[in-house]
Amino acid sequence: MRASHWKAEPVSLSNEQVKQYNQDGYLFLPHVFSEEEIDALQAETARMSATDMPQRVLEEDGELVRTIYGSHEISDLFGRLVRDERALGPARQILGDVYVFQTKLNPKAPVRGDVWEWHQDYLYWSRDDGMLRPDVVNVAVLLDDVTEFNGPLFIIPGSHLSVLEDDTVTLREGWWSGRHADTADGRHKLEREALARTVDRHGLESITGPRGSVCLFHPCLLHASPPNLAPYFRTVIFIRYCSVGNVLEPVPHPRPEWLACRRPTTVEPLDGSLLTA
Ligand code: SIN
Ligand code: MN
Repeated sequence: MRASHWKAEPVSLSNEQVKQYNQDGYLFLPHVFSEEEIDALQAETARMSATDMPQRVLEEDGELVRTIYGSHEISDLFGRLVRDERALGPARQILGDVYVFQTKLNPKAPVRGDVWEWHQDYLYWSRDDGMLRPDVVNVAVLLDDVTEFNGPLFIIPGSHLSVLEDDTVTLREGWWSGRHADTADGRHKLEREALARTVDRHGLESITGPRGSVCLFHPCLLHASPPNLAPYFRTVIFIRYCSVGNVLEPVPHPRPEWLACRRPTTVEPLDGSLLTA
């Protein structure tokens, strides 16, 4: 129990922190959620992982769970998490009123959890979903301790200001490829020269830290993650809060609502605590 570090009060970013987010494209906040809260979220993750449903996407082996989309609509607890001030507050501070565009829960499995290739999230959402502007804040909540060994997020600080549209090639149209909605190779591929150029300019960092921590990151921040070679899970939930004014344009083949929400309903802060229904 790391109770001495735990702050249950709402997260309010200082001017300095907002400046840092705008400059680097990300911000790491350690020890935001308690051990008890993370245990409860982990139990829900295990329950959802065992449930066969379209939102549950498997790794190439057809066995391990790669992603669960829409957990905030499947589970009451995750539904409360997206309304919890500690997740929602920083997004509202940066964007004003927001809706949940997508949640993505990635329980990257011990030893065999697979890679996520380099990408900017916004390029997927603009190309696949008709999102007009990158007015989104990603709130990643670490549900496991994340180390250099279990497939942490790699990021390029400051890369959210790089326009890489012309350096990203769409390999396959359509969000569904066979069994997988979301394969390890990615559908919109960043060219290697553009990656090298961006790393040369800004360097590389990895997001590691204790479970219960939060990382806010910009939807244009270039990121990836390597396979998990440790014998432990690396579970992270990514909550994508989108400004209510940033509605999606019509597209010929809209993705399901659990992948790309087209109902910009303002998220209201939770009244009460995360663990109290
Ligand atoms: C993502 O970029 O969508 C997922 C990355 C990860 O889980 O490491
Ligand atoms: Mn991503």
